[in-house]
Amino acid sequence: MKKKMSITSIQKSKGVKPLVMITAYDALFASLFDESADMILVGDSLNMSFAGKEDTLSATLDQMIYHTNAVCRGAQNSFVVCDMPFGTYTNKKDALKNATKVFQQTKADCVKIEGGKEKADVVKYLTSNGIAVCGHIGLLPQSVRGEGGYKVKGKDEKEKKRLLKDAKAIEEAGAFCMVIEGVKADVAKEVAQSVSVPVIGIGAGAEVDGQVLVFSDMLGFFEAFTPKFVKKYLDGATLVKEAVANYKNEVEKREFPKEEHTY
Ligand code: KIV
Repeated sequence: MKKKMSITSIQKSKGVKPLVMITAYDALFASLFDESADMILVGDSLNMSFAGKEDTLSATLDQMIYHTNAVCRGAQNSFVVCDMPFGTYTNKKDALKNATKVFQQTKADCVKIEGGKEKADVVKYLTSNGIAVCGHIGLLPQSVRGEGGYKVKGKDEKEKKRLLKDAKAIEEAGAFCMVIEGVKADVAKEVAQSVSVPVIGIGAGAEVDGQVLVFSDMLGFFEAFTPKFVKKYLDGATLVKEAVANYKNEVEKREFPKEEHTY
């Protein structure tokens, strides 16, 4: 069994080995990912892929705590990141109160908060009060309504400068790593090279310090659409549908259960 990474080993991995991060929302899948993942993200994307909502905005802190506890039980050898949901870190005081609740009620190893320069004071306040923080810059799913959609970042010089400033600001505020989402690959590469902490990409090309994917996308369970940056490693939806159709067929024909499934 692999050794669980620490903040120090995650930081030391920069320039040595790309970090492998995947989302999970429950103990069962987390236990299946534990062998291969360095880090498991209990993303607020659970509000979409688990709860069926259209965006992440209505995820609650209690929901995140419930799912983080399930993931921590399932994956005891992975570094667990708990997403702080929308509206729970608007200012320093709320951020500390809510992140403290996450640390007191779960075994999460850090929290993740979305935002760059404008969130540096919050990151600094959390880290100086003993809460480890993973940043999240670039396309910020919690800003989807504020920005009128999911917009790829780093498309011009102004956006590039902004991303470089964001990354520097949250590094200086004490974030030990950060996610960079939906950013042109050449810009994401420059951002990763500009800071000393690992920058983990999603839709940000190959030249960053690690990758993260939402598990239901990469295992092909989510059928509605496949973002360009997702590679499907499994056709989960087809396999599940075929299996359940087989079950239905056998139940209806009284072919299941057989002698070996019967007491
Ligand atoms: O909530 C989530 O799954 C995330 C990833 C998209 C990085 O934040």
